[in-house]
Amino acid sequence: MGLRSAQWYAGDDRNSYIHRAWMRRGLPANAFGGRPHIAIANSASDLTPCNLHLDEVARSVAGGIHEAGGIPLNLPVVSLGETQVRPTAMLWRNLAAMAAEEMLRANPIDGVVLLGGCDKTIPALVMAAASVDLPAVVVPGGPMLTGTFRGVPLGCGTDVWRLSEEVRAGTLSAAEFQRSESSMIRSKGHCNTMGTASTMGLLAEVLGLTLPGIAGLPAPDSRLLEGAHASGVLAVELVDQQRRPSGVVGRGSFLNAIVALAALGGSTNAVVHLLAIAGRLGVELTQDDFDRTGSGVPLLVDLQPAGRYLMEDLHRAGGLQAVLREVRDLLDPTAVTVTGRPLVDYLDDAQVYDREVIRPRAEPLRPHAGIAVLYGNLAPDGAVIKPAAASPHLLSHRGPAVVFDSVEDLHARLDDPALDVTADSVLILRGCGPKGYPGMPEVSNMPLPAKLLAAGVRDMVRICDGRMSGTAYGTVVLHVAPEAAAGGPLAKVRTGDIIVLDVAGRRLDVDVPDEVLAARTPAPAAVSAFAAPLRGWERLYVDTVGQANTGADLGFLVGASGDAVSRDSH
Ligand code: FES
Repeated sequence: MGLRSAQWYAGDDRNSYIHRAWMRRGLPANAFGGRPHIAIANSASDLTPCNLHLDEVARSVAGGIHEAGGIPLNLPVVSLGETQVRPTAMLWRNLAAMAAEEMLRANPIDGVVLLGGCDKTIPALVMAAASVDLPAVVVPGGPMLTGTFRGVPLGCGTDVWRLSEEVRAGTLSAAEFQRSESSMIRSKGHCNTMGTASTMGLLAEVLGLTLPGIAGLPAPDSRLLEGAHASGVLAVELVDQQRRPSGVVGRGSFLNAIVALAALGGSTNAVVHLLAIAGRLGVELTQDDFDRTGSGVPLLVDLQPAGRYLMEDLHRAGGLQAVLREVRDLLDPTAVTVTGRPLVDYLDDAQVYDREVIRPRAEPLRPHAGIAVLYGNLAPDGAVIKPAAASPHLLSHRGPAVVFDSVEDLHARLDDPALDVTADSVLILRGCGPKGYPGMPEVSNMPLPAKLLAAGVRDMVRICDGRMSGTAYGTVVLHVAPEAAAGGPLAKVRTGDIIVLDVAGRRLDVDVPDEVLAARTPAPAAVSAFAAPLRGWERLYVDTVGQANTGADLGFLVGASGDAVSRDSH
């Protein structure tokens, strides 16, 4: 089969002349004579600090592509800095995916190397590559090194809250708090806890989309550049063999990712991202697969926020492959990688070098990790909870609802001394789903009322139609579907209704007779918490986004169009 780029460059007519001539600027004539053109989809940006170093990674990738006889082409893509973009980076994930997909298809390229790091960047690029289905390999940008402050390690995200509490308690000055900023962000790379960026970088490898052994390499580690170079070489091979995402990532790959997600103690955000990627590939995957396949898997990795260590420690202790070896019997042995060999083939030599960081299967941190999926009259299409992150005594709970219609409503009333709330109450935050906010922000792990905190309460049942940060913990039921703004029953709950949570029975209900609930009018504020008229991307997003249980992709983006260009104007 000829190269796709030859549709632009081959021949001696006027059009091929134009295509070649405008690309000439430094490229030799033989660049257009059968050498694969490989895009380096590069999410480096000054405004995505976690991906800032990807230009350097791209140079190593380009070296590998050159060495293998290909032509590397830098392709800047929409980049999302999790801490910077507002109102929430998730609003833009599908935009980034759509833009990348279209540019990969529109341009004369034969394959692509995907460079991501910060939370949404790898999911967006993988969604794009799945839909255009060009030969593709991911190079995860890797986590930053462990910073220390006053002699102790700092975990990104998790320790911000700890230090700010110290300031409130008077044990840390405001000036010292500020000084800790650059200690926390010690080096290039993404957040170093087992948050969403770390999770998705590692899961890209489990899905088979990276050179095996590369995920989790710290961003400043020279071996990342070595791996990037090898990924460039591999990209040329992928084109040669026409090995595309649809031929690499199957249902077994996703089930392997679910097992890994549990063993790693990864972020709940992986649920929506994996569902969205599966939707692009046309692979059958449901939220229930996460429960069925992952909930019995033990938590083996002692990383923040669930545990003590950070990504640099995981790498030192043996890394992803050492973790996967512990659960090898749970992995689908037929699931392959971009190299053409099965994922499990790469686990034979994996070793654990620190049993404090990577626990043996027989001595896990928790016997059952993973995600539980709940159904009931509050969540007809499901909701998720991470039982290992919850307080055991709250996993079966009845309590009166205290309902907030929006994030603004929550902040306005939560700390009101007059708020009628006790430790047995169930906090409900709605209007935070994909359509409601819009963009499904990470707010489900809502703070506890000040007066209960002062009384020593440290956890309560919380229910929300939004997401939560990969660094967050607590008895939090999230991703409730349908969300309030999409007509879900969450919009009909009233303060004082009794909520029944039964994680063992996988139920989430409001103890209100069905006919009474059906007759209620949804709270207007919960349905349209975001009242401003929408235009542009937000308009398109709200009108077409799906619910969390299907990956919160835009309806018309689900599936694949392949690499064929619809029309050729020449
Ligand atoms: Fe980029 Fe955390 S802010 S990974």
